[in-house]
Parts: sequence; structure tokens; C-alpha cells
Amino acid sequence: MFRTKPVDEIVSRTESSEATGGLRKRLGTLDLIGFGVGIVIGTGIFTLTGVEAKGHAGPAVVLSFALAGIVSLLAALCYAELASAVPTAGSAYTYAYATVGEIVAWIIGWDLVLEFVLGASVVSRGWSGYLQNLFHLPTSLFGEESVVNLGAMLITAVLAVVASVGIKQSARVTNTLVVVKVAICLFIIVVGAFFIRGANLTPFVPPASPEAGKTGLDQPVVQAWFGSPSAFGVAGILTAAAVVFFAYTGFEAVANLSEEVRKPAKQMAWGLLGTLVVATLLYVGVSFVLTGMQHYTDLNNGSPLSSAFDSVGASWAGTLVSIAAVCGLTSVILVELVTVGRIGFAMGRDGLLPPSVSELHPRFGTPVRATVVVAVMIILIGGFVPLTALADLVSIGALFAFTLVSIAVPVLRRTRPQMPRPFRVPWSPVLPVVSALACVYLMLNLSIATWLRFLVWFLTGLAIYFGYGRRHAKAARA
Ligand code: ALA
Repeated sequence: MFRTKPVDEIVSRTESSEATGGLRKRLGTLDLIGFGVGIVIGTGIFTLTGVEAKGHAGPAVVLSFALAGIVSLLAALCYAELASAVPTAGSAYTYAYATVGEIVAWIIGWDLVLEFVLGASVVSRGWSGYLQNLFHLPTSLFGEESVVNLGAMLITAVLAVVASVGIKQSARVTNTLVVVKVAICLFIIVVGAFFIRGANLTPFVPPASPEAGKTGLDQPVVQAWFGSPSAFGVAGILTAAAVVFFAYTGFEAVANLSEEVRKPAKQMAWGLLGTLVVATLLYVGVSFVLTGMQHYTDLNNGSPLSSAFDSVGASWAGTLVSIAAVCGLTSVILVELVTVGRIGFAMGRDGLLPPSVSELHPRFGTPVRATVVVAVMIILIGGFVPLTALADLVSIGALFAFTLVSIAVPVLRRTRPQMPRPFRVPWSPVLPVVSALACVYLMLNLSIATWLRFLVWFLTGLAIYFGYGRRHAKAARA
């Protein structure tokens, strides 16, 4: 259970992998930032901003975005060190395999599958909703209340084909969509700035309000421990930070691509940090302008950004924002598909999942089977399950993985002091420990119900590990 895979073996197999038909090394820093921004900017900023400003933080949702951005940045530094030392597909999963042991690696891999499969499902439904808005399509097939969400299913099927055809092709499609997405965020900030009214931003931190707070299983864990239910105030900023953390999830997908990067040492660190700096600046700007344009109590839950433009009489801008949302969400789904396919690839290669999952397509050089398996899961979940509450589950999955990655940095420095580290986290072990504690604290700001759902997923994963992976793992036969 606690066996590890030697780092040198992982690295040397990766280096020889291209010659023997492994993943191809074709990506550079800009491709990485393109991928990162492609997966990071999505439903979080396009919808959760409004929900959280209205329900938990008011205009101070700006501070929630900044806080969540700082926590992600700390975790990203830890990722960068491990990704440069262990440049291989599977990121956090593979790092854990090299350090703490197989069972923890399995838990992280399983957890990443949750993060990306559910994340992509949530976003595919969001995509479908925006498309419905834009073209006035029937809500019975494209809306959130539909029994079978055809739009969500179709977009996932189309993008699964793109992801299977090749990494370079996926990078090209996402790079184009990313330009559109970044441009529209800048557009919102610049044009929206003309409509900001000071009155909307006061009070910036609305006073704590017990009656707006959630109770029972819907309340955050810290609240159940320490106090009575409330929303807004400082506690509200923290709760919103945990929820909008969803908006930053996915940046670690960049680390998953390290096996395909030309010079992982430098390019990986720049790819991760560049992605987060771009995202944080855009999120803080967009959320400030949004709450400045419309009073937080009046924000629309479904499409807050376009509705805010409508509310100030600039509906032409609202339409543009909807078009950009459709494009932006497309790139999120695509990069999530590419990522989760590669996690499945790495787990199959190690024998924790059936080895056929890790077969690469002879011509395209991509893990087609793994991609198809996860695409089918996303199509089924996105097509049939209403997913608004599941964004929190994605956040908790990501925060849990980040905690383990942060802990792995000082552990690996102690157990493998000689290992070359092209990128080193500054002030270790202080920074990784602060990163781990910050992630845990944000997790505690999520609801008890989210923790329970996470526990169910976790136990299911353990059952699969003990039922299959433990006996079939290649490390067991080495
Ligand atoms: N971070 C991604 C989003 O906000 C998952 O949609």
C-alpha cells in the first residue's frame, strides 16, 4: 500500500517514452499558459461571481477572488517544483506515487478524476445554457431544467473527437478560444468601468446577517463548529473564497502536460504561475466592475455579467458577453477532457486501472481509450444530472489534492535530497506548510453536505483500489 515508484525510473521512462511511442514533446510556455487559461477561466467567473456576491460576500467578493487566487498561487509554486523534478503525465498523482506511496497516489488520482469529470460536466451544462440564451433554443433540451440536456452531451462528444486527434490540435483550438475569452474579460473591465456607480459598492463589506445564513448540512463546517449561521461580513468573504475557488481549479492541468513540454524545468513554472496571475487579475477586475455596475442584491444568478450590462442599458454588450461565454466554456471542457484522459493514461500505465486505458493511438499519439471512457462519463453526468451544487465538490477535490501536493514538497526534499530540482519553492518548508494549511482552511469553509459527498466518492475509490489496483499495480510485480 505504501510502496513507491522510484523518481529516476519515472523520469527515465518518460525521457525514453517518445522514442518508444510515448506522448510527444511539442509544447512551449505560451501553449501552457494557453491551456491553463483555457481551463481556468470558465463558469467560475461567468456565473459564480454573481451567486456569491449576492449570497455571501457583496462587493467584497473581489476580496474572495483575491484570497482564492493567493491560495492557488501558493499551491502552484509547490506544483512547479514537483512538475519540474518529476516531468511526467498524471502530475499530483505521479508525485504522490514517488513520495508518500501507492495508496495516497491512488486517492489523488481518483480525486483528480472527480475534479475534472464533474468540472467538465458542470461546464458542459453551463455551455448549453448560454447557447440556449443566445439562440433561443428549446429549454427542454438545452436548459438547466431539461431532463436530457442534449446541448451538454453534444459539445462533449464533439470535443472528445478533437482531444483524441492530437495534443497540438487541441492546443491550437484552445489558444484561439482563449484569446476570445481574455479579450471579453478585458472588454467587460474597460466598458463596464464606465457604468460603475459608487452607491453600488457601498457597503463594500455588507454586515454579517444571521438570517441569510445557511443551516443544517448546508452550512460550512467552520460555522457548525464555531458559531451560529450567518452570511456576509468576514465569514461571508471566506465562504465565498472557498466557493469561488472553483474558478481557479484546473490550473494544475498545466502540470499534467509536463511529459509533453520541450523544457519542463523552466517552462512549467512559467506556465503555472502565468496562468494564475492572468486569471487572478482578470477575476478581480471583472468582479469589481460587476458589483460596481449593479447592486449585489439585484444580480442575476444565471447570467450575471450579461444581465448587468442589460441593467445599465447596454444590451449589445450583454450579447457579446454571452457569445464569449459560449467560446470560453468550450475551451474549459476541451482542456478538462485532455487532462483527465492523461490522468487515466498514467493510472492505467501503472496498472492501477486496466492497462488498455493507457494504450496510445498509433497515429495520433494520444490516449484515445482513456479519453473516450471519461467522455462517456461526462456525457452521462452532464446529460442527466443537474449540477449546480457540484461546483463545491470540484473545489473540495482540488483543495484536497493541493494539500497533499504541498505536503509532498518538504517530504520529498527530506527523502530525496539529491534529486535535481530545476525549480525550487522559496522558503520551504514554511511556504508549502502555509499552502497546505490555507487549503485545509478553505475546505472547512465548504458545506457539511459537500464533505459528505466527497467522503462517498473517496470510499468508492478505496473500494476500487482494494478490489483491483492493489493486486494489478506494476509496482507490486517489480
Ligand atoms: N475553473 C473552471 C471554471 O471556472 C473550472 O469553470
